[in-house]
Amino acid sequence: MSGSTDRAKPLLPIVVLLSGRGSNFKAILDAINNDGLPVEIRAVISNRIDAPALSYAQQAGIQTHALNADDYPSRKSFDHALQSLIDTFEPELVVLAGYLRILTEDFVQHYAGRLINIHPSLLPEFRGLNTHQRALDAGATQHGASVHFVTEELDGGPVVLQVNVPVNQDDTSETLAARVLEQEHRIYPMVLRWFAEGRLDWNDGQVLLDGQPLTSPQQLSA
Ligand code: GRF
Repeated sequence: MSGSTDRAKPLLPIVVLLSGRGSNFKAILDAINNDGLPVEIRAVISNRIDAPALSYAQQAGIQTHALNADDYPSRKSFDHALQSLIDTFEPELVVLAGYLRILTEDFVQHYAGRLINIHPSLLPEFRGLNTHQRALDAGATQHGASVHFVTEELDGGPVVLQVNVPVNQDDTSETLAARVLEQEHRIYPMVLRWFAEGRLDWNDGQVLLDGQPLTSPQQLSA
């Protein structure tokens, strides 16, 4: 995809990594196409050749690639191949959108400050998987989603923006997940816009928003 000629600013080149459904990727694409998000998706890369999002991306005219972990002897060699592939697209930001694979330290360090993720909980609560059921089991009254920079600590990097989603008494993990996902689609494009517009920056482990250190996440309500 290329930007229209009347844009004053260049588009932020990104590569999206995903493993499955890709609804966050679609939300980003929608924001580009419908809301003027100044981002160019140079490629979508999956660690699963059967990820449904790949055909969607192809139909949208975006380059896609799938790397199969079985073809690599180690996690390190897989991530090295992934990194080499990503770098051919020269992205300024690598966007994890449901990428269900642990990244090596080398990979994370290579993209320090240029690697971002969305996680379906109010971090630091409920890192890891099954966040919605765990929130229900814990009796949480508030749940949500967080966009954060990725560091070596799993789901532990600095959170930029999070959205609160109230838990209803009759929620199941499915109904809660659906309401959280709707909000994910709202906040991920917002953070990408901040980054693309130069408002969001990373300086040696410190997140800056509008030039000021971000000491706590920006908050939104559903
Ligand atoms: C989302 O809930 C996201 O927060 C998590 O994985 C899920 C991916 O969903 N990291 P999708 O593939 O974007 O629909």
